[in-house]
Amino acid sequence: MHILLTGGTGFIGSHTAVDLMEHGHEVVLYDNLCNSSEDVVEAIEKITGRRPAFVRGDIRDKALLADTMRRYGIEAVVHFAGLKAVGESCAKPLEYYDNNVNGTLIVLDAMRETGVKRIIFSSSATVYGTPQKLPLTEDHPVGTGITNPYGRTKGMIEEILADCCRADDKLTAICLRYFNPIGAHASGLIGENPNGIPNNLLPYVARVASGKLACIQVFGNDYDTVDGTGVRDYIHVVDLARGHTAALEKSTVVSGWHAVNLGTGRGSSVLEIIHAFEKACGHTLAYKIVDRRPGDVAACWADPKKALEFLGWKAELTLEEMCSSAWRYECLHKDAEAS
Ligand code: NAD
Ligand code: UFG
Repeated sequence: MHILLTGGTGFIGSHTAVDLMEHGHEVVLYDNLCNSSEDVVEAIEKITGRRPAFVRGDIRDKALLADTMRRYGIEAVVHFAGLKAVGESCAKPLEYYDNNVNGTLIVLDAMRETGVKRIIFSSSATVYGTPQKLPLTEDHPVGTGITNPYGRTKGMIEEILADCCRADDKLTAICLRYFNPIGAHASGLIGENPNGIPNNLLPYVARVASGKLACIQVFGNDYDTVDGTGVRDYIHVVDLARGHTAALEKSTVVSGWHAVNLGTGRGSSVLEIIHAFEKACGHTLAYKIVDRRPGDVAACWADPKKALEFLGWKAELTLEEMCSSAWRYECLHKDAEAS
């Protein structure tokens, strides 16, 4: 299949590109590089032995998008492109609604113009808001209770996709609700390398391990969890990438709108993550307990049953592999800023 990956040079897009290429698909990476680097194209070539096509462009540039879709005979889109920092979305809601929601409308318009009928969308467990019960199943209420503009863009895009599927019975939209993707490709050539001080736990821990940051701040130890710290469903990014390949294959035999959790079904606490990373890097890590971070939920993990039934996919890699691969990537990229 010829597949366009918006946001294809980013963290999850680059790992998905590798998996798709290894399954014989042709990919085109379309990215404006606002949060990634073109070096990723070369890293993917080193891993797969083939250079993916790359187009530098913004998803809000409909003419370039439609032209790219026609030029490469695109049959499906995996739509990763988006801004994703929760805190920044509270300070800059208009930028988030424009980039994420308006950007998706333009992707869908370009697909309609060029006759592309399949889209896989990067959604998030954040659409569930505060869990009413765990594990989270796909029929858990969505939308109400989302605590920030970033999360609301994901909820709105899911609804827009559902409306487009109601209007066109040939369209397939699969919303993949990611839990907490971490880790890196086993080669250490691609991974997660946010600019500035990381907001997310794993890249922060990796930078403390490599000595770039001094001390991990644990946001609260008074939650009702195993050790009082927040619990999340961490999933290896390589497993997550494989979930996209499975969803694309499924999109050739189903139509309509679907939502599927991509998680492991297991939760780990912040302290468990720190200790797993200590094993991977071979030394202890400094941490201190600080106040809870506003907007955080105590615990969140997936029921992964639907992914197995609908996509024939399940996560296989362990927490140990997540930490060791993230550590390998950190060691190889100590001096680089963007991934
Ligand atoms: P990332 O920032 O590494 O990748 C996103 C890519 O999109 C970047 O390369 C960026 O340059 C590009 N991009 C952003 N706006 C663009 C635009 N207007 N036009 C073209 N390119 C643009 O992030 P990621 O972690 O790989 O996330 C990919 C997707 O998955 C995002 O939509 C994100 O919201 C979603 N998601 C991520 C997580 C996570 O924890 N990483 C969790 C749930 C959902
Ligand atoms: N945490 C710390 N210290 C840090 C960073 C995080 O203790 O420096 C804690 C948080 O309080 C939370 C856990 O580590 O308990 C995970 O936090 P992350 O910021 O890594 O991840 P979140 O679960 O808050 O959110 C992530 C993405 C969202 C996405 C969500 C999906 O940032 O975009 O996963 O579940 F929607």
